[in-house]
Amino acid sequence: MIESTSCRLRLTTPLHGWVAKQSLVFVGVYRRCSGMVELGVNIDHVATVRQARRTFEPDPTWAAVEAQLGGADAITVHLREDRRHIQDRDLTRLAELVQVKLNLEMAATDEMVLIAGDVKPQMATLVPEGRQEITTEGGLDVAAQRQRLAGVVSRLKEAGLLVSGFIDAEEAQVEAAAACGFDACELHTGPYAGAVWDNGRRHDHPAVEAEVARIHRAGQLILAAGMRFNAGHALTYANVPPIARLRGLRELHIGHSIVSRAVFVGVRAAVAEMKRLIREASTS
Ligand code: PXP
Repeated sequence: MIESTSCRLRLTTPLHGWVAKQSLVFVGVYRRCSGMVELGVNIDHVATVRQARRTFEPDPTWAAVEAQLGGADAITVHLREDRRHIQDRDLTRLAELVQVKLNLEMAATDEMVLIAGDVKPQMATLVPEGRQEITTEGGLDVAAQRQRLAGVVSRLKEAGLLVSGFIDAEEAQVEAAAACGFDACELHTGPYAGAVWDNGRRHDHPAVEAEVARIHRAGQLILAAGMRFNAGHALTYANVPPIARLRGLRELHIGHSIVSRAVFVGVRAAVAEMKRLIREASTS
């Protein structure tokens, strides 16, 4: 298996394939040794603006190209059951176009498993989905639905996808995720971001430090269980460094803050700036 999934490649000959695989392994090993955390850019909100008018612009595939040029290691989209932003056609176009890892956030439903098996993004991240919610609100309660989720995970793995679960930073959820066979867990950083906001944006506030420690502890449990430790949600240019510094962290998934900044500076510059912050924090 290719350990680093940071490049989507169209392999043309066996030699091309071999060379490409070696370079992917090299990039992956280098990043892990250097402690560099990868950035997955969620471009849903580009589609949100488009859907506000049900028109053709802004095009999320353009955003994906710009994000890659800014240094994104992965492109993330959430195909919601109500299709409020990303549409099925966006997903198929992105699967053709994206040259880094494509990460599909999805509810654990039959419909989505079929779509994921068909489109074959490199990674599927299972998330809870509520029709009324503005964005994903809490982590997936893996502990409460082990049997069902184990089945979904195994179907996605059979289709050749890496499977991640978006969970709260709790021991019971990590343990259940490992038992279900998830390859990775993405820890929900929303409570941390809320603590930063509620406490004068001070990273040294005890409530903020407690949230960082909680994510760190859960992260170490994820690693001990042999899964990849990822994190995301509600991270911004201001609050990302303490999370990016966490030991063993592999990927951060960030959307709203990057798309918000991109309105003013463009997607490429917004992604490059977030990459710089993450690189400085994770390799210092
Ligand atoms: N990770 C997951 C699982 C999410 O559902 C989202 C939001 O779609 C994100 C990360 C990105 O969150 P934000 O848009 O707040 O950066």
